[in-house]
Amino acid sequence: MSTDEIRARTRALEGAGLRTFGTDDPIVWERTQGARVWDADGNAYLEMNGGFAAASVGFCHPRVTAAIVKQAGVMTHCPSAAPSQVRADFYERLIGIAPGPLTRVIPAITGSQATEIAVALARATTGRREVIAFSGGYVGRSPGSVAFAGKPSYRAPLGVPAGGQFLPYPDPYRSQWALGADPGEAALALLDHYLDDAGSGVEKPACLLLEPVQGNGGAVVPSDVFLQGLRERCDRHGILLVFDEIQCGFGRTGRMWACEHAGVVPDLMTVGKGIGGGLPVSAVLGRESAMGAWSPDAVSSTFLTNALGFAAAIAAIDVLLEEQLVARAAALGDRALGRLRAGLADVPYVGDVRGRGLLIGIELVESRETLEPARDRTRAVIRRMRERGVIVGHSGRNMNVVKLSPPLVTEDADWDRVIDDLVEVIATATEGSAS
Ligand SMILES: Cc1ncc(COP(=O)(O)O)c(C=O)c1O
Repeated sequence: MSTDEIRARTRALEGAGLRTFGTDDPIVWERTQGARVWDADGNAYLEMNGGFAAASVGFCHPRVTAAIVKQAGVMTHCPSAAPSQVRADFYERLIGIAPGPLTRVIPAITGSQATEIAVALARATTGRREVIAFSGGYVGRSPGSVAFAGKPSYRAPLGVPAGGQFLPYPDPYRSQWALGADPGEAALALLDHYLDDAGSGVEKPACLLLEPVQGNGGAVVPSDVFLQGLRERCDRHGILLVFDEIQCGFGRTGRMWACEHAGVVPDLMTVGKGIGGGLPVSAVLGRESAMGAWSPDAVSSTFLTNALGFAAAIAAIDVLLEEQLVARAAALGDRALGRLRAGLADVPYVGDVRGRGLLIGIELVESRETLEPARDRTRAVIRRMRERGVIVGHSGRNMNVVKLSPPLVTEDADWDRVIDDLVEVIATATEGSAS
């Protein structure tokens, strides 16, 4: 069946609100393998958005597929009230790769659900309600998690009000609010004002909630000093530090966890996307001291402990370790950042080239002085890459960032080709080529 027919059948029945027809001609996915997706007309694409950064060990990794098939013949659904060996195996594998002090797991299904559980747990542990979140942050789109999204536009259609206080995320490129000071230090000073000034209007929070590297915000990497300063404030005030490693974790930034770059361990950490190897698996990891507040049955969902998901996750973790994909992410990322920076240095509308490992953002601006977002040009670049058979991400708080979050198994030759194509397409991108 052709791409056009499948789109038409979908359009005829799908309720409004999904992203499907955000463009008129979305690619109709038929088959995936490694870093590639084929559409229903047989066209192949290199998927450098990685299915929104979820295909960390690659699409349909043969070992993950074999584990799913094997588990499917034994047990798929297993209710959360019933322990199972596959659940115990999953916990051990996950704790085995977690930062040392994080020794307990609560499983979940989606990243958004993990966010909700982490916040609820922080509130139960501290007996406080307030949450401090950050501009540009993306911690989920369920009603309970979107409350902490940096973009109010994500909340508006769901009728959800902001659920916490917000501080600016110290984006080294786009922090004019810091008035020339170091953005990390300036953000910490604002936090001190919230916490130390009895008249700040902000109640002492249960937790700080943030991504140690922002994904959807546009691959934004804050300074190590900022993350270290948050840890110090949390310790001093008895606040839980919650890191969302759903996108930036599981090897993507060239370390197992993005927070390792700064040497900071949170109290609670959410994980998801890549750990499921393609199935919906997420979790909250925590220190012993942050995981004991609840009595049995505080958290429940029918498919919370799905055996199929656990089997896939175990295989994905094994693949990540055995194929040494964390080091691979670091090496591929370094190579790409160097070549992108050199190749785009003289392109006046390239404002910033940044990232860590295989989480890379190229921010396009109308002018390097005003930093006005170049949204049309960004759309044009993404479209022209698609015409060349490469899918790249579209992100940033102003939707002017071309984002790369490819599978960590992307082959050298494919990756080099993507970078060459990107440099050429961006360097020649005129707004008129947007379609
Ligand atoms: C950093 C981060 N947190 C949370 C989420 C939400 O995860 P999910 O879409 O699985 O609910 C996402 C999804 O993109 C994410 O990037």
